Amino acid sequence: MAQLKTLPGFRVFYPDDFSKLQFIIRKWRQSAVVYGFQEYDAPVLEPLDLYKAKSGSEIEGQLFNFTDKGGREVTLRPEMTPSVTRMVGERANSLKKPIKWVNIGENFRYERQQKGRLRSFYQLNADIYGEAGAEAEVELIAFLVESLCCFGLSEEDFYIRLSDRDLWVYYLTSKDISLEAAQDILSVVDKMERDSEEESLKKLQKILGEGSVETLYSELKKMTQIRSLEELEAFFADRSGNGGGSTALKERLADWQKLLGGLDAMGLSSFVQVDLGVVRGLAYYTGFVFEAFDRKGKFRALAGGGRYNHLVKKLGGPDLPAVGFGMGDVVLHELLVDRGLMPEMVSSPDIYVIVGGEEERKSALKDIFNLRQAGYRIEYSLKEMAFAKQFKQAAQSGAKITLIYGAEELEKGVVKMRDMAGREEVELPLSRLFESIRDFFSG
Ligand code: HAM
Repeated sequence: MAQLKTLPGFRVFYPDDFSKLQFIIRKWRQSAVVYGFQEYDAPVLEPLDLYKAKSGSEIEGQLFNFTDKGGREVTLRPEMTPSVTRMVGERANSLKKPIKWVNIGENFRYERQQKGRLRSFYQLNADIYGEAGAEAEVELIAFLVESLCCFGLSEEDFYIRLSDRDLWVYYLTSKDISLEAAQDILSVVDKMERDSEEESLKKLQKILGEGSVETLYSELKKMTQIRSLEELEAFFADRSGNGGGSTALKERLADWQKLLGGLDAMGLSSFVQVDLGVVRGLAYYTGFVFEAFDRKGKFRALAGGGRYNHLVKKLGGPDLPAVGFGMGDVVLHELLVDRGLMPEMVSSPDIYVIVGGEEERKSALKDIFNLRQAGYRIEYSLKEMAFAKQFKQAAQSGAKITLIYGAEELEKGVVKMRDMAGREEVELPLSRLFESIRDFFSG
């Protein structure tokens, strides 16, 4: 019955796995509240056109798209950015700026299933609309750091590679390369870390046609190896003649200073690394871009994002600057397990109720119901069982106390309470059961 199995790249979550996913989601949500991001949601099924030519050819090839029964071309969302950008665009005039929004939701990409990459995954998306300055990047990257540190990860576990598509485009167009070809070259740079030199040269040749591409390749390679603001300044100074570059270049380098200065002031310098090797595969990015990786280089990217100042307008809204990032649950989970930071999720009851027989069950059920109403987590055996077996289950459940509803006790108007840590037993009058339980848990 092979056709009844779950589809490749999709997960089922048994309670143990589900509680781990919820642990991740809970921590993300708590961090988002502290950083002042508001939560929103959008549909998982969207019109195909929302992604065509906006997200880029890589994602277009990974869409779970189909024609619905009404003849509409639709797709499961591969990412949140177009949906949230359309939402913001629709109400841009009435929303208070800057708009800081967050979502945690499922996304779907028809990718080749591999370590760290599935066809369905959860993503934390955080975006800031309405702020053009690098202050927005500082705020967002600080949140990105927090949404990893909240799990106990530190700068020894992960870092964020910072890059800039503006500078890349500035450099390429200064070499008389058209804007369109520059975008295509950035896709080559995006894959340069994984591709061989021959492969990259072949791709460049295809974009630029006639003429040698070897010099360009070695220039691109040099740029991908830049690791500090000083090296960045030196790279452009060497290539700009005596004037030290255009006003646009100077302004951009000043933006870099603002970004790195802001992160430094927040005490986050040790988490970031200038690295022009990152350019991002998605088509809508316009300025600073960044990706988070584990320090040991064992895993795929943990998170990625950047500025996308033209997308609100492209999707029918006003001109509104935007910057954001997405972080998936899959690689994060792998990293947390690797570092011993994924806790075992045990959900123990507060109270295990032991029931003598069917007669006693009635009194027990009444109290169980009422104690649950008061917020205590309670477990008990659903069927009649020997005392010894119930005691064993109580011990296994991890409950803090057991309440014993035996015939003898009930006749005396009491129940026995056993403190599972100290093992001592006391009799509690049924008339004062609630007060006694409350005293135990508050004491
Ligand atoms: P992305 O780089 O495509 O960016 O994805 C961000 C993160 O989502 C990745 O670093 C990875 O952790 C996770 N992810 C992506 N694809 C998969 C997959 N197939 N399986 C498991 N995890 C995956 C975006 O999606 C942008 N929309 C982020 C963004 C928000 N940019 C601006 N705002």
